[in-house]
Amino acid sequence: MTQLATVITGASSGIGAELAHLFAPEHQHLVLVARRREPMEALAETLKHKYGVRVTVISRDLQEPGAAQGLMDDLAAHHLQVDTLVNNAGFGLAGNFAHADPVKTSAMMQLNMITLTELTQRALPGMLERGQGRILNVASLVGFQACPYFAVYAATKSFVLSFSEALAEEVGSRGVLVSCLCPGSTDTGFHDVAATKGSVLEQIADSPKMVAEEAYKGLNNGQRVVVTGWLNKPVPMLNRLVPRRAMTWAVGKVLGR
Ligand SMILES: NC(=O)c1ccc[n+]([C@@H]2O[C@H](COP(=O)([O-])OP(=O)(O)OC[C@H]3O[C@@H](n4cnc5c(N)ncnc54)[C@H](OP(=O)(O)O)[C@@H]3O)[C@@H](O)[C@H]2O)c1
Repeated sequence: MTQLATVITGASSGIGAELAHLFAPEHQHLVLVARRREPMEALAETLKHKYGVRVTVISRDLQEPGAAQGLMDDLAAHHLQVDTLVNNAGFGLAGNFAHADPVKTSAMMQLNMITLTELTQRALPGMLERGQGRILNVASLVGFQACPYFAVYAATKSFVLSFSEALAEEVGSRGVLVSCLCPGSTDTGFHDVAATKGSVLEQIADSPKMVAEEAYKGLNNGQRVVVTGWLNKPVPMLNRLVPRRAMTWAVGKVLGR
């Protein structure tokens, strides 16, 4: 028999692993997805013992084209249907765009935007049919503005933010909650991958536990956009008040090296 599941991508570390701790007490079958199997197996054991929840670990590279369909096939093979989708897997690349690795840049766009969209598109029809479901898409504070020296990453997160807000409007009256998490800098492995280690971004980082807790609460309260951290909350308003070019200049000054 098919069971309903909560699927969390990017669950091997950081915000995704913290979110797994918050969804586990709901006792819905949990599916942890990322490339590194070992940390997910360890997390799965902890969650099983602590909450008595069933957990399935799927190791998959979500930046490969076709990964979303591959994951849906994995879920079908486990007789699982998505009830809650947490699109959290993602990474950033900081630095001068002219010097960025084009292969890594495309992989980032594939993971942060295409896989996220394709997973949502494949999971949504079942949710609408059942008249229930939740989608939590992880964007970023940088999604509110153009970010020199983080140009493509920020643009992928603008995509996630725009897509999520539009989708929330489309399906909100049909039983499906859509929420977009916009964390500011958060103390995770993100900074190693993005090459922002030691930068101002790392120095002002929030804890991933706090970010996950605000995200979980916001999703369940029907909040469409969740900006975490008291320092970050004024940023969306600031972006409406300050001329775009001035904001872009200021962000470039902070992120430039
Ligand atoms: N930390 C921040 O400052 C910050 C701020 C705003 C937004 N965010 C967003 O928050 C989300 C989570 O990041 P985090 O901060 O928790 O960093 P993290 O600890 O590095 O977590 C990233 C997660 O994504 C997974 N992932 C990366 N590439 C993948 C791939 N190709 N296929 C499958 N999974 C992949 C990683 O697992 P594997 O390496 O095992 O595959 C890991 O579980 C990301 O979308 C990020 O953009 C982070």
